[in-house]
Formats: sequence, structure tokens, C-alpha cells
Amino acid sequence: MEKKCGCWAALTKGIKGNCKSSASRDSANALPRTSLVYDAVTETRYLNASNRELSASHETLLSSENPDPPPSEKKDFRQLLQFSFQELKSATGNFRPDSILGEGGFGYVFKGWIEENGTAPAKPGSGVTVAVKSLKPDGLQGHREWVAEVDFLGQLHHPNLVKLIGYCIEDDQRLLVYEFMTRGSLENHLFRRSLPLPWSSRIKIALGAAKGLAFLHGGPEPVIYRDFKTSNILLDSEYNAKLSDFGLAKAGPQGDKTHVSTRVVGTYGYAAPEYVMTGHLTSKSDVYGFGVVLLEMLTGRRSMDKNRPSGEQNLVAWARPYLGDKRKLYQLVDPRLELNYSIKGVSKVAQIAYYCLSRDPKSRPSMDEVVKGLTPLQELNDLAILSYHSRSSQQSRRKKKSDGNWQLNYTQSKNIKNSPLITGKRH
Ligand SMILES: Nc1ncnc2c1ncn2[C@@H]1O[C@H](COP(=O)(O)OP(=O)(O)OP(=O)(O)O)[C@@H](O)[C@H]1O
Ligand SMILES: [Mg+2]
Repeated sequence: MEKKCGCWAALTKGIKGNCKSSASRDSANALPRTSLVYDAVTETRYLNASNRELSASHETLLSSENPDPPPSEKKDFRQLLQFSFQELKSATGNFRPDSILGEGGFGYVFKGWIEENGTAPAKPGSGVTVAVKSLKPDGLQGHREWVAEVDFLGQLHHPNLVKLIGYCIEDDQRLLVYEFMTRGSLENHLFRRSLPLPWSSRIKIALGAAKGLAFLHGGPEPVIYRDFKTSNILLDSEYNAKLSDFGLAKAGPQGDKTHVSTRVVGTYGYAAPEYVMTGHLTSKSDVYGFGVVLLEMLTGRRSMDKNRPSGEQNLVAWARPYLGDKRKLYQLVDPRLELNYSIKGVSKVAQIAYYCLSRDPKSRPSMDEVVKGLTPLQELNDLAILSYHSRSSQQSRRKKKSDGNWQLNYTQSKNIKNSPLITGKRH
């Protein structure tokens, strides 16, 4: 698709283009991307607004950091559609409140419909369903992250990365148009829904997300994602996981460099300790974030939860002693799963999480290794509930008792076998 205006390169550099849109005149664009005032003010506000933190001890690094290089003008963005604001307004029914899918630091995300192979709006329920993310007028995330999103997702294509269909930049409006992910975010499924996410879906999602990160880390120009968390893992109708939100992504170290020095941004509770302390960013910082999410999937607990007793608010600190002790391990498992999880699966997931969360980044596995470790777990059927049944019936035979108090009767066990946790249905 041909771009409708030729000002992309100018906009990504934050300089005034001669585009008929007044984008470059407006607040976010008028600020050069290298401006430290812009970085500090905009980003700190953004981080606070979206549960993110900037390490105060590391603020000195801000002034010495090299600005991100402007995206190369040679990059091929032709696959991205450029929408007008009016088209997206119509596609979302004038940004109707009841079409809001969610809200993040960037702004609201709306459900909309567009015609196939074009930017024209379609009637609700027809054409292609899309998710339209609109930057808040006060630009909490800001132009810089908007550009990073278009820059990275415009070029990176993988089944485990959400597809960016196009963007809109018109006056001070900044919007992004993505493929619609039917089941929303992992955060929603893990922490908000009344039905617990089945174990098999958790494994499928962990594997998909791990493949997405492995793809980013393994390319000729590695990318560090920097914002791995449950709300950025989106799910399609089959629970395939796709990473979204590349606003904080960063090109990895080049040549013989071991790390990239950068401002400390991310979400509190997911950021690797050495990155928070030093600002040194490597792909192993993402591996740590992956370990936190894996732990959230294992336990059903949030990485930071102020509503829990003080010793349990920080998930990693609370869970670490259990992870390393096989006898205590099962106390970690999300109680909402009851006994509907694979015994070997839990043990392996805990082991992978343990290594991903190593304090020494060098002891963490690569994401390729994580993918290899998780892949066989999809096949495991050794559900704890089945082992409980067989132990129960062995004991009952031994005692020659058919109606022990502790034994599940026929109806109870039938209910458990048909439960959505085992069948994966009705979720
Ligand atoms: N492509 C999409 N399809 C379906 N729902 C989406 C899509 N993108 C985002 N959403 C929904 O909108 C919500 C808000 O997304 P957004 O990325 O703006 O913020 P966030 O990830 O929750 O927070 P943060 O801004 O801190 O990253 C998501 O949690 C998800 O429920
Ligand atoms: Mg997000």
C-alpha cells in the first residue's frame, strides 16, 4: 500500500515535515526525540500512570544515554496501511464507549471494523475486525513510543507477535490499528475472569509467548522487548499467544557489545534486578520478565499485589523458596486449578521459572532453551486429580470400604472429569 503522505521519515526524527497534516507542529512531535526534558517528563508520567517505575538511583544515566537512533528511512513500511482519523472514527462507531476493549498507558483501545484490503470503515460485524488504540490527548505514552511501535511491528512478522495493520497520524491524533485478538489479554484470563484458565491453556500460552521472545532475540538484529507482562500477551480464539506493545522495545547490543545502556523503563514487578540497578539491558532482562509471567501463570498471583500480607506482595520474593524445594512446590500452584494440573508439568514449569529468575543473568536460559523446555509439557496427561483418584481407590480397596468420607463419589468425579479445567471448553 502506498503511503498517503510522505512525511514518515520526518516524523520519526521529530523534525518538521512538509506534510499537509499539522502533526509536526503539535506538542509531541515538536519535541525532538532526543530531548531529555521530553524524555524525563513524558516518560515518568507514563510510567507512573501505567504502573511502571523509573529507577531514581539510575536517573543520572538518562543524561549520558545516547538517544535512540532514528528509524532507518530505508525500512520498508509499505505493508502498513495509513488510515485517516475519519476512517477510524467511523470504523469504531465514533469511538463508542461500549466498544472499548481496554485502557492502558497509551490510551483507550476500541473494537472496530474495516473493509478487507483497504482502510475504508465497514459495518459492525462485517469485513475485518480490528483493535484501534488511540493516544490520549495529553500523550502519556507519547510520540516516541508510538514511533517505536510502528517501527518495530511494521517490520517484525511472526505468528506470536500481534499484527499491526496500520496507523493514523493526523494533526495531534496518533492511532494504531491491530488485528483483533478475540480473547483479549492473558491478564484478563488469569486475574479477572471467574473461570480459572485451564492448565493446558497456560502451557500453550507460555510456549507461544516464549516463541515470540525467542524470535525477537534470535534474529540477525536482535530486539529486546522490555515490557513482558500479562497485559501485553494477547490471545486469539484458540489461545494462541501474541506479544503486543513494542513502545519500549529496543534494538539489542551490536557487534561485540554485551549490553545496551538505557533509561530504566518497564513495569514494576517484572524488571530484572540488574537492569534496574545499572540500566544495562540484555535479552536476559526479557528472560527474567518471562520468569515472572511464568510464575504468575503457575500461582495465579500478580507479580505485585498490595492487597496481600506484606511478605507476599512481591511474588518473586515470596515464591523463590518454594521454587527450589520439591516438597513445597505444590503449595505454589494456583488453588483455583484445584487438582487439575500435570504433576510433571508443574515441576518443570517451576524449574524453568527458577532459572529464568536467577539473580545472575548469565545463569538464566536463552528463550530458545525455554521453548525447548516447555514444548514437551503440552503432551503431559499426568493430572494430579487422576493420581488422587487412583490413590483413593487403592486405599479404599485395601480398607475394603466403598464409601470412605474422603473418597470422591461417582458423581463428584464425573463432574471433575467434565470440568472445563480438564476439557478446556466453556472458558
Ligand atoms: N489487538 C487487540 N485485540 C483485543 N484487545 C486488545 C488489543 N490490544 C489491546 N487490547 C485490550 O486493551 C487493553 C489495553 O491495552 P494496552 O496495550 O493499551 O494497555 P496495557 O497493556 O493494559 O497497559 P500498558 O499501557 O501499561 O502496557 C489490553 O489489556 C487488552 O485487553
Ligand atoms: Mg499493552
